Amino acid sequence: MSRTLRKKRDFLRVTDLPREELLELVERAAEWKLIGKNGPHPLERMSVGLVFEKASTRTRVSFQVGVYQLGGNSIVLSPKETQLGRGEPVKDTARVLARYLDALVVRTFQHAKLEEMAAHADVPVVNALTDASHPCQLLADLLTVAERFGADALRRADFGVAWIGDGNNMANSWLEACSVLGFRLRLACPPGYDPDPALLARAGAKARVVRTPREAAQGAHVVNTDVWASMGQEAEAAERQRRFAGFIVDRALMSVADPHAIVMHCLPAHRGEEISDEVIEGSQSAVFDEAENRLHAQKALLELLLAQ
Ligand code: CP
Ligand code: NVA
Repeated sequence: MSRTLRKKRDFLRVTDLPREELLELVERAAEWKLIGKNGPHPLERMSVGLVFEKASTRTRVSFQVGVYQLGGNSIVLSPKETQLGRGEPVKDTARVLARYLDALVVRTFQHAKLEEMAAHADVPVVNALTDASHPCQLLADLLTVAERFGADALRRADFGVAWIGDGNNMANSWLEACSVLGFRLRLACPPGYDPDPALLARAGAKARVVRTPREAAQGAHVVNTDVWASMGQEAEAAERQRRFAGFIVDRALMSVADPHAIVMHCLPAHRGEEISDEVIEGSQSAVFDEAENRLHAQKALLELLLAQ
């Protein structure tokens, strides 16, 4: 059946993929990693628009390279260079872009804007980060965990993931992954910086917020963190420095984790704030594999949404 005759699929949040499909996607991402850059071209003659309303290094470059390696063409669209920046309605932009493009990858501030785009675009829309979530990063993170601990770890209730710091977009996406898969998630957040309560409720007993990094990291197999102030929160940076003091992944914190634990960070990192230089550069750090895995995981995602 041609793609235009079947219902388009978006990827706006981790839970847009049912459990088995998510695990299959992680497996397929590992295959794409082995295949490398000289593989098949399931996106031949397709064009993908990359709409970026916030800065990006990894997401933008890995999508551009991934689309190219899959045989497609990508077009980067920033608000400054399009009519979006001059106030053209999102619903008009989405409908017009969908007439030219085969998919839209969108990084923006409000999640509702992404949803509006998806509602009006007749082609798959992919969340490249909003204030509420960052599901593409989670695909790469799940691949990284599967590489280090085996894919079964993601289904195991005794597999512990710790989140240290802000209950932000990344924390929300980890919570969604926790609700779909089987692992245990402990999030250490200062009061007032918890993740989305609806997502926490959905994850049930598998996820819990605690108030000290040590409680979260105790026995954990994965210790995960992110910046104290995300993009768009620059004005709160000084206040957040005060509120997040002590929420750092350093050698002392890693000493309470499982001895084989890995450290994850989606990057960019602020050394000396949420993570010490020693830990990010140390033998337990998986952060650069994580960054590389963006490419492989997103190739698997684009194949799923566009080529099957
Ligand atoms: N991790 C991540 O999404 O990085 P960029 O902001 O550089 O895309
Ligand atoms: N929480 C960070 C993630 C960056 C990839 C932010 O939104 O800025």
